[in-house]
This record gives sequence, structure tokens and C-alpha cells, in this order.
Amino acid sequence: MSKVQSAATSSETIADRTIVDLDDVHLRLDSGAGPVNILRGVNLHVGRGERVGVVGPSGSGKSTMMMVMAGLERPSGGRIRVAGQDLGALDEDGLARFRRDHVGIVFQAFHLVPTMTALENVAIPLEFAGVRDAFDRARAGLESVGLGHRIHHYPGQLSGGEQQRTALARAFVAEPSLLLADEPTGNLDIDTGATIVKLLFDLAERRGTTLVLITHDPALAARCDRTVRLADGRIADDGLGGGDLDGAALAARRERARLAGE
Ligand SMILES: Nc1ncnc2c1ncn2[C@@H]1O[C@H](COP(=O)(O)OP(=O)(O)OP(=O)(O)O)[C@@H](O)[C@H]1O
Ligand SMILES: [Mg+2]
Repeated sequence: MSKVQSAATSSETIADRTIVDLDDVHLRLDSGAGPVNILRGVNLHVGRGERVGVVGPSGSGKSTMMMVMAGLERPSGGRIRVAGQDLGALDEDGLARFRRDHVGIVFQAFHLVPTMTALENVAIPLEFAGVRDAFDRARAGLESVGLGHRIHHYPGQLSGGEQQRTALARAFVAEPSLLLADEPTGNLDIDTGATIVKLLFDLAERRGTTLVLITHDPALAARCDRTVRLADGRIADDGLGGGDLDGAALAARRERARLAGE
């Protein structure tokens, strides 16, 4: 029985409180040099509203774990439930809808569309989702990351940090319940990085967004509720200190502390 199951009192509570549930997830890819076992039995539970930092050496599987959480890569074994959906039961259209409705993603390599301006990059996914004021919201999102003066620039005309902020605005503007970000401050100078971290956590706090942030930045990891460490395709440390608290219980504890402080 998983920690989440043992800590929660009913199945309804489990579903309510857990947004990410990876159960013995394996990913094996065939490369030219033979099969590679990239994820080797990952178990991870993240509570709603929790902020989790993911660390680990280069090549340990962090980006790959994010891909399977987002339904962008299908595991070769194990089970993935995110936002109440069993990703293994969804076809490609279902996975696209799942991402549109629940997940914001900031990729390590940004993946902005080079032929679209910053404004279009942020607005188009909203338009696809049928949002009427997509461009107004995109403009506000870009202003919130300090790019109000760059909205008509193409990615090739933006610096690395500006592209990163555009990718963040795009991930946040649809108000996802889960935000997955791969090195969100990796290309930013210290001041801009600090601004972006503040923005991320302020927005997450206001909207109850769950954050899963892959980072090598100790300052960013320190802002999270816990740090999960990957090594060689497995969770070497889930940041729960071997105690009884699971992610959901940690999120509840933080919420109680927040309410007590008001
Ligand atoms: N398509 C692929 N085919 C074969 N091996 C792959 C493929 N994609 C990734 N890998 C391997 O899987 C391992 C994990 O890669 P991943 O990108 O998840 O690492 P990471 O922890 O994000 O590293 P970094 O900190 O450098 O970004 C690496 O050893 C990588 O070489
Ligand atoms: Mg990576």
C-alpha cells in the first residue's frame, strides 16, 4: 500500500488530495546502442497545491519523468494518474484534452513556435481552448513576466531569458491546476530569476496551482515544500524524510499554517 493510501481515510479523500500519482513507472527506450532503461520504477505522489522541487544529476531522468506526467511519453510499465485521470486509458486526443484542461508545461528547450510572435505563442493555445479574450489574457500574461514591450517579437528576436519568460507566460495563462517546469530559471540572471520565482509562487498561491519544478537552482528548490531527488531513473529521496506524511498531508499542513498566520 502506498503512503498516500495509508494516510488518507477514504478513496474519495485520496482522489481529492492527490494530483499526481506515479506508481512503479518504467520507461525503456530502444536507441541505436540497444535498449536504455530510463525510468526504473518511479513512485511519486504529489498533493494538490503542493510545490515540489525535483533535483538529480544530469541524465537521471528528470525531464523524462516530466514527459510521462504530462502524457507526452507513454511508460513501458506502471500506472500514471494525474488530476483524476488514468493516462494509460486515454488515446492521443484524450491526452491532448487532458493537457489543455489541467497541465501547463515549460520545457527545458522552451519549444516556442518560431513563426509566431511572443503574443501569438501565448494566445494560440488559449484560442484552441475556446477562450474568447485569448489575446487580452496573453498580453496580460506577458506583462506579468515583464515582457509587455516585446509582445510582437518572434522567438528568434528574444534573448534566452525572454524566451523562457514567454514559455512561462504560455504555461500559466490557461490557469492549469498542475504546472510542470523544467529548469524555469536556468537561463535567467539572478534578478530576473528571483522575479520569476516570486511570480511563479505568487500565482500558484493565489490559484492553488500545484508546482513540479525541475531545478539545479538551490534557491528555487528551497522555496518548495519538499525536494524529490532522482538518481539513475529512480526516486532516491522523496523529500518526506521517511516519516508518515505524504504529499497531500504536507499540503494540508501548509494550508493550516497559512490560515493560522492570517
Ligand atoms: N529518445 C531517447 N533515446 C535514448 N535515450 C534517451 C532518450 N531520451 C533520453 N534518453 C536518455 O535518458 C536519460 C535521462 O534523460 P533526461 O533527459 O530525462 O535526463 P535529465 O535528468 O533531465 O538530465 P538534465 O539534467 O541533463 O536535463 C539520459 O541518459 C538520456 O541520454
Ligand atoms: Mg532535463
